[in-house]
Amino acid sequence: MKTDSLWYKNAIFYEVHLRSFCDSNGDGKGDLPGLTSKLDYLQELGVDCLWLLPMFPSPLKDDGYDIADYHHIHPDYGTVEDFERLVSEAHARGMRVIADLVLNHTSDLHPWFVESRKSKDSPYRDYYVWSDSDRKYKEARIIFLDTESSNWTLDPATNQYYWHRFYSSQPDLNYDNPVVADTMIDVLRFWMDKGIDGFRADAVPYLFEREGTNCENLPETHDYLKRVRRVLNEEYPEAILLGEANQWPWDLRPYFGGDEADPTVPGNEFHMAFHFPVMPRIFKALALGDATDVIDIMHKTPAIPHNSQWCVFLRNHDELTLEMVTPEDRELMWKLYAPHPRMPLNLGIRRRLAPLLDNDRRKIELANSILFTLPGAPIIYYGDEIGMGDNIFLFDRNGVRTPMQWTAEPGAGFSTAEPWASLIDDAEYGYQKINVAAQQNDPASLFNTMKHFVSVRKATPVLGWGACDFMPLTNKAVLAYLRHTEREAVLAVHNLTGRPQTVQFDLSEFAGRVPVDLLGRRDSLPEISTVPYGINLEPFDYLWLKVS
Ligand code: GLC
Repeated sequence: MKTDSLWYKNAIFYEVHLRSFCDSNGDGKGDLPGLTSKLDYLQELGVDCLWLLPMFPSPLKDDGYDIADYHHIHPDYGTVEDFERLVSEAHARGMRVIADLVLNHTSDLHPWFVESRKSKDSPYRDYYVWSDSDRKYKEARIIFLDTESSNWTLDPATNQYYWHRFYSSQPDLNYDNPVVADTMIDVLRFWMDKGIDGFRADAVPYLFEREGTNCENLPETHDYLKRVRRVLNEEYPEAILLGEANQWPWDLRPYFGGDEADPTVPGNEFHMAFHFPVMPRIFKALALGDATDVIDIMHKTPAIPHNSQWCVFLRNHDELTLEMVTPEDRELMWKLYAPHPRMPLNLGIRRRLAPLLDNDRRKIELANSILFTLPGAPIIYYGDEIGMGDNIFLFDRNGVRTPMQWTAEPGAGFSTAEPWASLIDDAEYGYQKINVAAQQNDPASLFNTMKHFVSVRKATPVLGWGACDFMPLTNKAVLAYLRHTEREAVLAVHNLTGRPQTVQFDLSEFAGRVPVDLLGRRDSLPEISTVPYGINLEPFDYLWLKVS
């Protein structure tokens, strides 16, 4: 493994749902040895870092985000030794692995909660947030709106309410209890000592509760997360923390720490944070053929410290969240992208990338081109690299978590048994048609295009490190920005519409240069001069032009 403490600045991330990736023992559920057997595939794609969804013992009422034991592996997935083997095999291929760190809550079957709920005098009572009244913290919103009607649930054993920001089967831990705060840091140490490279930290805005606030992003939460970072810096200096805070850009900025007035001061909280607000705006821009909102949100995104990085994504294992858009835009997005009553879920849309984009190869490539060139490190959601479909009729978010489609054989190469969730097998997205084996053999496949994006992106560090200046919006159908450092500049240009477009840019600072199309889609381009530089774009065309 190369050592480089800023490795994440230009890394390609890949999100894996273990249960759906590859089943090695024929029980219909993906597992750690299965994933290990597919590392060569991920290496071929060019992935630098895997993020594994929670793999710990759990009743799986929230697909593992309800943890019942932080120190073991769920028996469906294998053993701690299997995990260590996965990590060392990944490292041998130059790949890193981060795990999910669920700090905010446990399962109601975690022994701490089982004890806590027994009596008000339980030594574990204070591990969770109990109250005589369900009227406290009224300003905190409900997140799982379609299932929960309150953040409090009455527990008949002691006639008190317990606090939970997600399902009632996920009681929130009480971070005002120093024992809880310390214990969770030990959980982090436990997995770090198994050799991993950091964590994706789940649901971090909600760790503390304070009356009179919305109980999100509180100063106490930031203080605790800074403490977590200190432990990592001191004990595991190359490990990263990637924060999941579904917040507006100005509320996300504090999660990097440092000094907001001075981006040269190093960040001292999360190394990385998902850029939630830009994601739905990419989909809106594509639907309306209008770049305005993407540019607007990026302009509202504060500068981050130089040792920090955004993580940008198009889709993940959850619904496509519409929390960070206006109520009007939410209605619009539901109208545009969720026409069937099974598609909306909570404040989002439970669909995968390819179906959202009408399985139109041009739009899928365009969206990925934006993902790979915007500021931040891109993350690919498993299966989206081959354009997998979804099943909106499955429970909760399972429809976007169906088994990976490896081959056209029965079981899709995922399992020899009945898979835990039915394989997609319709005419358009079925595994018989959409699968890894077929796409690896086809130079024109989406997989090979994605592989090309990955390799060009990795060979173009300015895309990871450079500043981003949006080009003036003379034609709003074209999203264009210059990624640049002092030595390198790449102009990314995207036609958001299904019609040819023409744009002109002032590139006079690069006069005399001949742009090189990094993706090799254009043979030769005219030299840049001091007059506006014209570019003709095909429908849904995209270009990464090296101009320096
Ligand atoms: C995060 C996860 C989601 C989970 C929730 C509660 O948002 O991405 O899948 O349900 O946290 O843990």
